[in-house]
Amino acid sequence: AQFLSSPRSLSSSLLADSIKQPFVIGVSGGTASGKTTVCDMIIQQLHDHRVVLVNQDSFYRGLTAEESERAHEYNFDHPDAFDTEQMLECVEKLKQGNSVHLPIYDFKNHRRCSESFRQVNASDVIILEGILVFHDQRVRDLMNMKIFVDTDADVRLARRIRRDTVERGRDVNSVLEQYAKFVKPAFDDFVLPSKKYADVIIPRGGDNHVAIDLIVQHIRTKLGQHDLCKIYPNVYVIQSTFQI
Ligand code: ADP
Ligand code: C5P
Repeated sequence: AQFLSSPRSLSSSLLADSIKQPFVIGVSGGTASGKTTVCDMIIQQLHDHRVVLVNQDSFYRGLTAEESERAHEYNFDHPDAFDTEQMLECVEKLKQGNSVHLPIYDFKNHRRCSESFRQVNASDVIILEGILVFHDQRVRDLMNMKIFVDTDADVRLARRIRRDTVERGRDVNSVLEQYAKFVKPAFDDFVLPSKKYADVIIPRGGDNHVAIDLIVQHIRTKLGQHDLCKIYPNVYVIQSTFQI
């Protein structure tokens, strides 16, 4: 009994402490795989909880006017295109229960809107979404659950052409050139290798309602433990002794 109680009660109190923090979910996958769509579906189903979405896109480094003129030569799919230190700092602050100001990125002009920010408040769930959110180990370590949205490359390219021409001010030729020169090679070098860190892989993105229902059920279970822990901290610790 002695060897059972001391190490286990220590790990259960650590567990109790860790689940008092917001539940952090990472959602990664290739461009136009449906990451944002999946996040929106999760947020919709969790309407009775406080959920915030943080987009890795917000942390794109802004280009100078000179770089902007030659944007077709810039690799927006390389990890160095993002200010990962700033993203890490923001997610850490949110995880500690603080509110943060997130930059707003302008895809048409390849720069951050200098005059406006998005204020994000403390919440029960933080979703961090982006093509390279699994790349940096320090960012991965903040996540309680990692989801990879796995959609065929031809479907993604078709969606990207439509989206970038309609919403991001591009022409078809520039989208295809950028895809061949930067997007596809970076997907193969950085995004696809990070799939191995995922806990859950969702084939077909937002079309996969079964996967999204299962994910939401899991989050609800974790949030239920969180609430129980807040109301009956001692009861939870005793209970978790037997669960671990
Ligand atoms: P990501 O965040 O991975 O770039 P989005 O969720 O923004 O992907 O989707 C990219 C584009 O594809 C958007 O224009 C979106 O409306 C469209 N899209 C996403 N999922 C689907 C789907 N299941 N069926 C049809 N179009 C979709
Ligand atoms: O929404 P999605 O995950 O597709 O956003 C990431 C993509 O945005 C990257 O593949 C990158 O090529 C593209 N991007 C762009 N122009 C920018 C910044 C990012 O085309 N200025």
